[in-house]
Amino acid sequence: MLGEMRRTHTCGELGLKDVGSEVVLMGWVQRRRDHGGVIFIDFRDREGITQIVFNPEKNQALHAKAHSIRSEFVLGVRGTVETRLEGMTNPNLKTGEIELMVTELKILNSAQTPPFLIEDVVDVSENIRLKHRHIDLRRPQLQKNIILRHKATASIRQYLNGLGFIDVETPVLTKSTPEGARDYLVPSRVNPGCFYALPQSPQIFKQLLMMSGFDRYYQIVRCFRDEDLRADRQPEFTQVDMEMSFVGEEEIISVVEGLMETVFRDVLGMEIKAPFPRLMYDDAIEKYGLDKPDLRFGLELSNVSDIVKNTNFKVFSSVVKKGGIVKALNAKGCIDFSRKEIDDLTEFVAVYRAKGLAWIKVREDRWQSPIAKFFTDEEKEALAERIDMQPGDLVFFVAERPKIVNEALGHLRNHIAEKLGLINGKEFKFVWVTHFPLLEYDEDEERYKALHHPFTAPLEEDCDKLDDDPLSVKSRAYDLVLNGSEIGGGSIRIHQKDLQEKLLKTLGMKREEYEEKFGFLLSALDSGAPPHGGLAMGLDRLVMILCGQHSIRDVIAFPKTQRAACILTDAPSKASRDQLEELALKILS
Ligand code: AMO
Ligand code: AMP
Repeated sequence: MLGEMRRTHTCGELGLKDVGSEVVLMGWVQRRRDHGGVIFIDFRDREGITQIVFNPEKNQALHAKAHSIRSEFVLGVRGTVETRLEGMTNPNLKTGEIELMVTELKILNSAQTPPFLIEDVVDVSENIRLKHRHIDLRRPQLQKNIILRHKATASIRQYLNGLGFIDVETPVLTKSTPEGARDYLVPSRVNPGCFYALPQSPQIFKQLLMMSGFDRYYQIVRCFRDEDLRADRQPEFTQVDMEMSFVGEEEIISVVEGLMETVFRDVLGMEIKAPFPRLMYDDAIEKYGLDKPDLRFGLELSNVSDIVKNTNFKVFSSVVKKGGIVKALNAKGCIDFSRKEIDDLTEFVAVYRAKGLAWIKVREDRWQSPIAKFFTDEEKEALAERIDMQPGDLVFFVAERPKIVNEALGHLRNHIAEKLGLINGKEFKFVWVTHFPLLEYDEDEERYKALHHPFTAPLEEDCDKLDDDPLSVKSRAYDLVLNGSEIGGGSIRIHQKDLQEKLLKTLGMKREEYEEKFGFLLSALDSGAPPHGGLAMGLDRLVMILCGQHSIRDVIAFPKTQRAACILTDAPSKASRDQLEELALKILS
């Protein structure tokens, strides 16, 4: 169909230097305009837009043919580059000083009217966009995002290759890798009743590669987790996964900091400065409520439990007596928040299971608040000092179990910063969070769980507390946080069989259970395992931030919806009776 027509240029590169030359472009019709008999088309490919022109005075037949052209038709055009008439140039377009006077037109394909405009801002639901994702991906912002993602992975590969990392693929049909989510299972036809699990991460395989002597491994790899989805979580997502032998935290942290410097330079042309600041987990929680603090703004939390432990406001004093805490967030200068706004914020914290949100408006002469009357002058003075209460401030309090207080106020802190416009969208604030607890207690399951995964090494000096006070043991894990988003996490691993076994026991596993699940790892640890550690970056989250987007769906070519569905291909879908029979499966409902 193309015949002799060969593309000579893209739609984003012609300029005054090309005036007079004959060129061939291929692409899509963005928009057709008819002006006094002349037809102008914004002609698009991934590199940009060029205006192409059909003038009836120059070629009547061609002009007539151009009349049938509609949006999203695919064309090949030959023509001569001409300077645009004075006053007709478009400074917003790279090619805005020229246009192409068409001398030959091939309509390579027609197209149905698209379900939405191919523009940055479109007024349709995300589900409609995802249903027509192949068309949605033509929008300039998405083209930019996907191309930037490619640049980021190219830069990452080049950097890691340069440092001697070796790219090794690991299985997708595998055994469960515990990262805290549910597994996706794949039934095995040849082993009826048996299932593979898709990897939540290549964690165990990369450790085995260290034991095989590969020393430095990386992989840009798909991981699968069946968990509740959010703007920054997909059921399948991509990790930049790495592992190194004979290293401690510092080597890994400095490789990753160099990686971030390189990616920001290559992709955004921006110099960021390492080393990044570090925060211990306990301090992060104390000041910001969350283990992924956004450091682009202040609004630190204050713990006032000691001040209110005997107060007459029983909600506070009784919580403290029961082992809970009371913390405050000073929304500086927010005294004018309305009753309705405060009610909305109360609903906001309720999502994190806070039963209420007490507040005080600090007026020049008094505290306006439903709870001020309960406090003694002494308590008031101490609160004012601890929370730095100044006239004009609005102070919020939550009293609950520590986990609830920190989560509620931590998220409220982010929410208020956004509401007040305190966040500079152009700023990038990295922070390493270190010294995580090794374990947490799961109240529902009544057992300890690994905060990261069960292969994370405890701090050496804490090892002897594993038996008596396991919750006080800190781990050698570190998370990399960027603008309040956890973009990476890793640790130094356990490389001694005894310690690994002990930890699996602490997690409540009996010998038969851990032998069945992790026997292969335990025996590998006993066959010459070097000390090792690593980290995995969440590529989707990193690219989302690099692109200035708010959802990882916008940086994934074919993402899933909140219900873990791909509405473009209609997956997941029912299996046929024959398929089920072959797999020895029966559907219960
Ligand atoms: P972790 O579970 O912290 O660590 O995952 C590493 C990074 O992957 C990203 N991430 C996700 N991104 C999108 N959707 C998800 N559902 C999702 N889950 C995680 C996050 C996170 O920081 N094996 C360990 C790494 C190691 O110890 O080396 C691991 O998987 O950005
Ligand atoms: P009440 O005594 O229930 O009328 O509550 C008085 C104020 O305290 C209201 O503003 C509630 O939102 C707030 N409050 C109730 N429970 C809590 C709590 N657990 N933490 C913080 N504030 C609370």
